[in-house]
Amino acid sequence: MIQADVSQVAQLEAEITPSPWTPGMFYEELSLGSYCRTLEDAFGTLLGYSVARLLVDEWHLLTLGISLAYRRQGGAKLLLADLIQRAKEKGHPILLEVRASNLPARTLYQDMGFHFLYTRQGYYRFESGTEDAILLRYAPA
Ligand SMILES: CC(C)(COP(=O)(O)OP(=O)(O)OC[C@H]1O[C@@H](n2cnc3c(N)ncnc32)[C@H](O)[C@@H]1OP(=O)(O)O)[C@@H](O)C(=O)NCCC(=O)NCCS
Repeated sequence: MIQADVSQVAQLEAEITPSPWTPGMFYEELSLGSYCRTLEDAFGTLLGYSVARLLVDEWHLLTLGISLAYRRQGGAKLLLADLIQRAKEKGHPILLEVRASNLPARTLYQDMGFHFLYTRQGYYRFESGTEDAILLRYAPA
């Protein structure tokens, strides 16, 4: 991901997540040197994105999304496999939080080898109420 991608990435995130990041949040991660990736088709159409930040010796996967039209075609697996490869280079684990009701994402992470750590009750706050966060961890072999 480069700065010129941010408005499209933020637009996609706004279409597919209940509490989307602002463009400024993506710019900030880029300026911090976080691991920000986009997934595009052969024509340059944006299909997905991921942002992960290395905090000392742990990767934190901060956001990940795939466009509705490209779901279940292995896009998220590709982005995650890329981050896992990166994490394995120095043996760093990956942590993430996911909404308890987000079964597609929870299934994806479980399939990719992430393990349950604990539940943070009421972590996500929406106008309609709160939702628990599930914390997951990937430990490189
Ligand atoms: C979660 C998300 C990233 C998955 O993207 P995707 O490209 O469709 O996922 P993949 O095609 O790589 O799927 C990989 C595996 O994840 C699981 N999975 C993905 N979508 C699923 C669904 N709707 N139901 C059940 N399992 C699902 C499956 O195990 C799947 O493997 P399979 O297709 O061989 O059965 C996508 O649904 C999304 O962008 N959701 C909105 C944003 C979001 O929730 N991000 C995660 C924040 S923590």
